[in-house]
Amino acid sequence: MIALFAPDAAATDAIGAAIAAHLFPGDIVTLEGDLGAGKTALARAIIRARLGEPDLEVPSPTFAIVQPYSGIVHADLYRLADESEIDELGLIEDVGDIVLVEWPERALSLMRRPGLGVAIGMGEQGAGRVLSVTARGRELGGLADALAPWRAEETQ
Ligand SMILES: Nc1ncnc2c1ncn2[C@@H]1O[C@H](COP(=O)(O)OP(=O)(O)OP(=O)(O)O)[C@@H](O)[C@H]1O
Ligand SMILES: [Mg+2]
Repeated sequence: MIALFAPDAAATDAIGAAIAAHLFPGDIVTLEGDLGAGKTALARAIIRARLGEPDLEVPSPTFAIVQPYSGIVHADLYRLADESEIDELGLIEDVGDIVLVEWPERALSLMRRPGLGVAIGMGEQGAGRVLSVTARGRELGGLADALAPWRAEETQ
């Protein structure tokens, strides 16, 4: 696990770009954190960097639930009533797609696929954000070095 501190939204964007450069096709990236933690902000940064389109509009998929892009899918399962709905949503239509999932607690089966787990929390006194990044079923690889500028502490 890598612990990071993002002092401002620009740092979140930069962390997203670093993560984007170290994702493999088929990776599932689970984004955990309370309302307003910054899950959509991080997903937006990952998608823009991955597609090389810094100004791409990336709406929160709160209502659409699933928002597909080229080779990457952004989902917000907050409104998902039952895990079985995932099949109908077409969340995993192409096993080569990268899938970014907000509120993954709604569909724990997603954790069986390889990828990254990112948990986002508020910094002390509400300033900035603390992030923890964990590799699941794959190595962190070069991502650990890429995230070094924001490293807060290390465990394990
Ligand atoms: N490192 C940071 N420091 C301070 N503010 C930040 C940081 N990163 C992102 N933010 C801000 O925090 C807010 C996060 O909102 P966002 O919609 O991404 O939250 P969310 O976790 O997706 O919420 P929801 O559960 O409603 O989907 C945005 O206003 C963003 O600019
Ligand atoms: Mg969101």
